[in-house]
Amino acid sequence: MKPEVKSKVFVGFPIPQAGLEKLQAQCDVTVWDKAEAASREELLAALRDCEGFLSMAPYRVDDALLDAAPGLKVVSNHAVGVDNIDVAACKKRGVLVGNTPDVLTDTVADVTWALLLATAWRVVEADELVRGGQWGGLKPTDYWGADVTGATLGIVGFGRIGQAVARRARGFGMTVLYSSREAKPEAEQEAGARRVELDELLRHSDFVSLHCALAPETRGLIGAEQLKQMKPSAILVNTARGAIVDQTALVEALKTTAIRGAGLDVFAVEPVPQGDAITHLPNVVLTPHIGSATEKTRTQMALIAADNLLAGLRGERLPHAV
Ligand code: NAP
Ligand code: GLV
Repeated sequence: MKPEVKSKVFVGFPIPQAGLEKLQAQCDVTVWDKAEAASREELLAALRDCEGFLSMAPYRVDDALLDAAPGLKVVSNHAVGVDNIDVAACKKRGVLVGNTPDVLTDTVADVTWALLLATAWRVVEADELVRGGQWGGLKPTDYWGADVTGATLGIVGFGRIGQAVARRARGFGMTVLYSSREAKPEAEQEAGARRVELDELLRHSDFVSLHCALAPETRGLIGAEQLKQMKPSAILVNTARGAIVDQTALVEALKTTAIRGAGLDVFAVEPVPQGDAITHLPNVVLTPHIGSATEKTRTQMALIAADNLLAGLRGERLPHAV
């Protein structure tokens, strides 16, 4: 009897064990486990004879990659966002694409709130002050933060995560505005939110939180003009994608205190280069793209990514198809 030939699969980075074991039980798996992501050349070489790719940014799936991997049947992204994948190019060649929605919604909403509150209360600055022995004692005029309770929150992109962020705002007695391509009356009612145009949202919000997908229409959506429309006392929070914001314009707005501060989990370039202008500002709180980073959530994402990949190899519809 001929030995069974298992499908070759390339996993672009280490994933939680449960997902990996699921793949290893059925496939011939290679995991890229170096500290830095594979270079483009290394990636294309690794995918040459693979049928499955478990991917994520910064890996770009485009025509050139698909040319270099003619046997590829499925690209399973270990993320909900698929802006690193040319989905149309995959579709044209019959390559299936999967992602990991829902299981991370609450985790990302929680991280959004962690950033919003930490920026409002200058938590990082205050922590450094205490650790550095620079705290001169309690004074009524020192280290004021921004009121969150009763403030206005503007949510740009009212999808799963945007709505979860809005639901949490009710506990803070906030007025919630959102901008969206279409009205969502049910979600509006559940979250107590009101739909407005982006201009109005920017003018009236004390906190602006970005939750739209990165697409040609949302790339650079928040630029110099939009930042000018925001209140000087306002805080911008971005847990969506760095490229939705013009980061150079944001640095300028923060430097000149045209806006009060920013809480950022995502950046124009990731990882953020050492010495980048954004890292020199006192009025920002920066986290390294940790929106979904809990053991439970990342394990669920790995299991979904594995299920998507295995379904694609069998030629079945993916449980979470893009
Ligand atoms: P979702 O439910 O699909 O919501 C995304 C929203 O983006 C859509 O509902 C839509 O808002 C808006 N949108 C999509 N395409 C657009 C376009 N072409 N033009 C304008 N708006 C568009 O996705 P989700 O699960 O909430 O995730 C949202 C994003 O969060 C992901 O795409 C990802 O980039 C980011 N994310 C980040 C982390 C992290 O670790 N920081 C983790 C997970 C996700 P409207 O329908 O209201 O127009
Ligand atoms: C992470 O950024 C995701 O899109 O899931």
